[in-house]
Amino acid sequence: MSRRESLGVGLVGAGAMGRVHAMAYAAARAYDPELPPVRLKVVAEASTAGARAAADRLGFERWTADWQLVVSDPEVSVVSVAAPNDLHAPVAVAAAGAGKHVLCEKPLATCAVEAQAMWRAAEAAGVVHMVNFNYRQLPAVQFARSLLHTGRVGRVRHFRGTYLQDWGNDPEVPYSWKFQARRSGAGVLAGIGSHLVDLARYLVGEPAQVVGTTRVWVPQRPVARDAQGSMRSVDVDVEDAACLLLRFAGGALGVLEVSRCAPGRKNHLAFEVHGESGSVCFDAERPNELGVYLPDDPQVDGFRRVLLGPAHSRRIPLAFAGIPVGFLDTVAFQVCDFLRAVVRGEPTSPDFHDGWRVQAVLDAALESDRRGGWVEVVPGTQAAEEP
Ligand SMILES: NC(=O)c1ccc[n+]([C@@H]2O[C@H](COP(=O)([O-])OP(=O)(O)OC[C@H]3O[C@@H](n4cnc5c(N)ncnc54)[C@H](O)[C@@H]3O)[C@@H](O)[C@H]2O)c1
Repeated sequence: MSRRESLGVGLVGAGAMGRVHAMAYAAARAYDPELPPVRLKVVAEASTAGARAAADRLGFERWTADWQLVVSDPEVSVVSVAAPNDLHAPVAVAAAGAGKHVLCEKPLATCAVEAQAMWRAAEAAGVVHMVNFNYRQLPAVQFARSLLHTGRVGRVRHFRGTYLQDWGNDPEVPYSWKFQARRSGAGVLAGIGSHLVDLARYLVGEPAQVVGTTRVWVPQRPVARDAQGSMRSVDVDVEDAACLLLRFAGGALGVLEVSRCAPGRKNHLAFEVHGESGSVCFDAERPNELGVYLPDDPQVDGFRRVLLGPAHSRRIPLAFAGIPVGFLDTVAFQVCDFLRAVVRGEPTSPDFHDGWRVQAVLDAALESDRRGGWVEVVPGTQAAEEP
């Protein structure tokens, strides 16, 4: 498509992340002036009132309670999917079938089989597809990757990742789709474990085998008051916490820990990677810093705090170091990559293939939790690789 032709955006789901998607599209040209104009065309929500309110707040021209109207809209060329996880596959497959390019939230689907089908459908349709593993976009993560991939720390031996939050620890937090296997696929593994597995793959490579164990810490959640005013509770059927061991195909070992019941931890996404001769460490609560250990001077032995700047990443929006990059920036960077790929007619990453591979690791962890022991990640998929 031409750089002057405007891009019409359709959004399905305007909750917490849908709002961030809308903000990122609205700001995309400010981040990248090479992009064509972006028009927020139509937003779908679960109800007409919700859709109208979202259109009013976020600046969409039209609204609907029927997502099918978004994917079939002739003025829409890109569709963002930020609805509950069980809607990702039907919306993304229908959108791709209608020739729309698709940016889908993580986790890509509710299981690996569904995720693989989404990847096949998008490839067969020849559309650009992307999954919003936005933490990849942090300059610190990109610099860590470049240190690891250029051999600065030697061969990678160990990945340790934690992603801890505490919002789920309050038993009064009401029941929602995030506590329901049918709608969410999994619990904390789907919600934040997917980001951690994506970072493990991005930094180290494919996990080949997984052992996992999970726990539900708050087994019931309140839904609503009944006619007598009593609170009704329902059972939660997905995990609040999980611990995983990984064996990577390249030989490295991994330890992953995720919880939404970790008091005091708000958004503690952290990793440490050890190579043969050096290490990197990162904590998303200090997103502009990377800890780097290189044993080059015995007198100042220890981790250095590297403050990220334009020298480390083309992603720094301003031309000097020390300007923090935030969550909204990471989604805007994703949206810019996605729209650039659409304009150029090129693939981008992380794509639905990445989403499928992450999902396969999550499925393997859940399978290991059920039957015990090591589980192969997507065994025998080589033949299934071609769409
Ligand atoms: N990338 C990230 O860091 C990140 C962070 C949070 C959530 N997410 C992902 O974003 C997605 C949405 O999560 P959220 O936290 O925004 O949830 P949310 O519950 O706040 O938002 C989901 C929205 O979808 C709407 N919806 C439900 N059914 C619909 C339908 N049939 N048609 C249209 N809209 C419908 C709901 O009304 C709600 O407003 C999930 O896949 C989640 O995993 C990603």
